[in-house]
Amino acid sequence: MEGKVVIVTGAGSGIGRAASLLFAEKGARVAVVDLDPAGGAETVEQIERGKGEAILIEADVSSTDQVQAMVRKTVDAFGRLDYAFNNAGVEAGLIPLDQYAEEVWDRTLSVNLTGVWLCMKYEIPEMLKTGGGAIVNASSAAGVIGVPQHYAYVASKHGVVGITKSAALEFGGQGIRVNCVCPGMIDTPMTERFVPDGARPMLEEGHALKRFGTAQEVAETVVWLCSDAASFVTGHAMLIDGGITAQ
Ligand SMILES: NC(=O)c1ccc[n+]([C@@H]2O[C@H](COP(=O)([O-])OP(=O)(O)OC[C@H]3O[C@@H](n4cnc5c(N)ncnc54)[C@H](O)[C@@H]3O)[C@@H](O)[C@H]2O)c1
Repeated sequence: MEGKVVIVTGAGSGIGRAASLLFAEKGARVAVVDLDPAGGAETVEQIERGKGEAILIEADVSSTDQVQAMVRKTVDAFGRLDYAFNNAGVEAGLIPLDQYAEEVWDRTLSVNLTGVWLCMKYEIPEMLKTGGGAIVNASSAAGVIGVPQHYAYVASKHGVVGITKSAALEFGGQGIRVNCVCPGMIDTPMTERFVPDGARPMLEEGHALKRFGTAQEVAETVVWLCSDAASFVTGHAMLIDGGITAQ
């Protein structure tokens, strides 16, 4: 990935940080994008400590203006755009349908689904200028199965699978591959916030591999999907879920 440029959103924590570090290790220059500048700055620092190259861009992926600026700043700094990991996302609690607040629905959809769509909308024209690229979007195991009381998150992640396939079909003829990853439970700050006290053993048991995954395990797949090793893979929703959806 020497000479290549990647945007990673939600790069200030968890899976996004692990992917940013791995892209940098493979030689890519990384635009570290996050709503939280402190988390993003820590990721940039870790990349630079490893002798990689990165810039910090503070942006909310649910804002059209900020996503446009994110792409512009990346190209201003690095001159091109080859890959994107549209990973920024928010959890929503498990809430019974009759108590589900529309604000939770709206915010979850606007970050997890509209955010991914906006990123692709402004990233792809830049990739076309250099003849192609590769995008990985963040879906979830909850993008392929239902979860009781998890309406907004499940809807957003199923939506990501759908728009990933649509973009793969629209741009495959122009050298752009678009895939998404569907992780099971991964050990990150999001999971620490989401998993209720005492529920972890039961959730681990639900995975065929009887454990949660690591951010590094997802990062390896994301970087592979962007690499030339995955040159015939597009429109795919790749499960990295320890077998939670296998039953
Ligand atoms: N952790 C899991 O078990 C798991 C499982 C399946 C899918 N995912 C998905 O993977 C992605 C990363 O999850 P994680 O576990 O690393 O979460 P995390 O909470 O550890 O990190 C998410 C990062 O995204 C940033 N972010 C949130 N809203 C943003 C916005 N509007 N604009 C820009 N940045 C924003 C946060 O500041 C944070 O740094 C998410 O899309 C999540 O839904 C996570």
